[in-house]
Amino acid sequence: MEYTNNKYFVIDFDSTFTKVEALDVLGEIALEGKADKTERLKEIKEITDEGMNGSLTFRESLVKRLEILDAHQKHLPKLVDELKKQVSKSFQRNKEFFKNYKDKIFIISNGFKDFIVPIVNEYHIKTENVYANSFEFDKSGNITGFDQNNALSVNGGKAKQLKDLDLQGDVYVIGDGYTDYEIKAAGMANKFYAFTENVKRDNVLEKADHIAPSLDEFLYLNKMNTAISYPKNRINVLLLENIHPHAVEVLKEEGYNVEVYPAGLDENELCEKIKGVSILGIRSKTQVTAKVLENADRLISVGAFCIGTNQVDLEACLKKGVAVFNAPFSNTRSVVEMAIAEIIVLYRGLFDRATAMHDGQWNKSASGSYEIRGKNLGIVGYGNIGAQLSVVAEALGLNVYYYDIQEKLALGNAKKCATLKELLSSVDIVTLHVDGRKENKNMIGEREFQWMKDGMIFINLSRGHVVDIEALQKNIDEGKIVGTAIDVFPQEPKSNSEEFISKLRGSKNTILTPHIGGSTQEAQENIAEFVPNKIMDYINTGSTSNSVNFPNLQLPALENAHRLIHIHHNVPGILAQINQVLADHEINIVGQYLKTNEVIGYVITDIDKAYDRELIKALRSIDHTVKFRVLY
Ligand code: NAI
Repeated sequence: MEYTNNKYFVIDFDSTFTKVEALDVLGEIALEGKADKTERLKEIKEITDEGMNGSLTFRESLVKRLEILDAHQKHLPKLVDELKKQVSKSFQRNKEFFKNYKDKIFIISNGFKDFIVPIVNEYHIKTENVYANSFEFDKSGNITGFDQNNALSVNGGKAKQLKDLDLQGDVYVIGDGYTDYEIKAAGMANKFYAFTENVKRDNVLEKADHIAPSLDEFLYLNKMNTAISYPKNRINVLLLENIHPHAVEVLKEEGYNVEVYPAGLDENELCEKIKGVSILGIRSKTQVTAKVLENADRLISVGAFCIGTNQVDLEACLKKGVAVFNAPFSNTRSVVEMAIAEIIVLYRGLFDRATAMHDGQWNKSASGSYEIRGKNLGIVGYGNIGAQLSVVAEALGLNVYYYDIQEKLALGNAKKCATLKELLSSVDIVTLHVDGRKENKNMIGEREFQWMKDGMIFINLSRGHVVDIEALQKNIDEGKIVGTAIDVFPQEPKSNSEEFISKLRGSKNTILTPHIGGSTQEAQENIAEFVPNKIMDYINTGSTSNSVNFPNLQLPALENAHRLIHIHHNVPGILAQINQVLADHEINIVGQYLKTNEVIGYVITDIDKAYDRELIKALRSIDHTVKFRVLY
């Protein structure tokens, strides 16, 4: 710590230490229930802005705002409680910095000690190191004004305060406002860091020596970071194909530098764009090829904001140590609900009846209309969707049968069938929920239709190539299948502008839908929540659970240790080499986790606090290392 001995840190409060302007929050509290609250708050904001852009002096703006506020002493505890919740994220993360440097940290603010002191005290900052205004109260406790002698109640006050402090050493100022820059302009600070985690002001950015999107960046630049290994704002995220805004929000909230792009990119465009990107988010259109990966110089993870991952070269990602995540369960419920709806609609003959009405046909009759209660439903493929459908269907009174090539536990009263033939010959409705593996091509063809009873309902919401469409068509025409719902097709149009071509068009009691089984707003939102969380978990803890290509490791939270994350080609002896390096450096291993697949080995080692750069260098230079990183 010696090299920081003569460094002082001057930190602003409003919109820097906390995310908000305290007087705005005080306004919300003090004006609660008043009829003209909205107008008054608006007025306060306008005056704040006028104060900032110089059309009012700071003192004038303060007097005016306090007048409108009508605040009272009794509002202050509430204000403090609220502000405690609003401390900037990166400040919360870096409590240790405030503790370690408590003698060197000064809060210099045009706000008020009355609320600043209780907040910053919790961060070990000393009361005597807080320089700010003080409220004045009348006898009944109303806030009537402020101490007019305080330098911080006038323009240029911060610079003057610094002058009075006469700190002997280097002074670094961190703040979001022009008044913070003025300290440096007056020659009272060595460097001014524009803090942009909460607000960005162009006139301030222009003047900054550095822009600090978070406190992590400031600490990183000054080699003082302890809370996280690498400032998150330096992690570039590129989100393509109009990914749901919730995902953008989640990733920004984490502190990443997020760039959003509405369309997909072709290979060459992506080869350019991928440079410097650590996290790539795509949907189904963007191809992440080996060539793209060759150009990816900082890529840590790819998030496929969908179910399928055929568009990503998983093997090439693996070889590069890039973990890929998708959202396999996010639309399970959506598919289940659609299957249930279709079972009812088809069994009741609603689809044809409703269509006929549009042609003017009034066909009131019970013929061909049935309840689903007590009917036998056959589910082929008892995975995520099949199993959830089983539960919901049973609740509606269906008898559930299922068949799966893997051993699957029956849920509720569902009956397991030993063969596909047993299932198909036992049920009134069959619905397919198998995965898209090659062997499943035409798994339902003429032979399978012959195993079914007459008068069946047939549903496929899984994959198009699973059903022999000609055989299906024949069985619809012959009356064996009396109701059909198909959402997926062997050949699907590539875009909404291409025509849908299929022999099934015009078939009786047949619902055709454009691969929308999983397409709901809820599913999109689930995906937007699930994928970023998996990626953040991987970056923050090394956990790879649910990764599509990495060996899956679920790791405990990191406490009082450093975590070394080592990805290597899966050749014998690497773990032994890692441990030898650690032994040579007399490092104590607190925990170690290893998992491999055919291509890579993934080793996580938690070690005691102390280590040096030599150790990191030695671990990096072990042969066959693909990637190495340290979490603090
Ligand atoms: P999953 O992988 O959890 O389940 C598939 C199950 O099918 C597994 O238990 C597997 O053992 C079984 N299976 C595979 N081949 C089989 C065979 N020949 N016979 C019997 N069982 C077999 O998959 P999940 O999430 O339940 O999805 C099921 C299907 O639904 C997938 O094909 C998926 O692509 C599709 N899907 C379609 C959507 C749409 O928009 N229509 C949306 C979401 C998924």
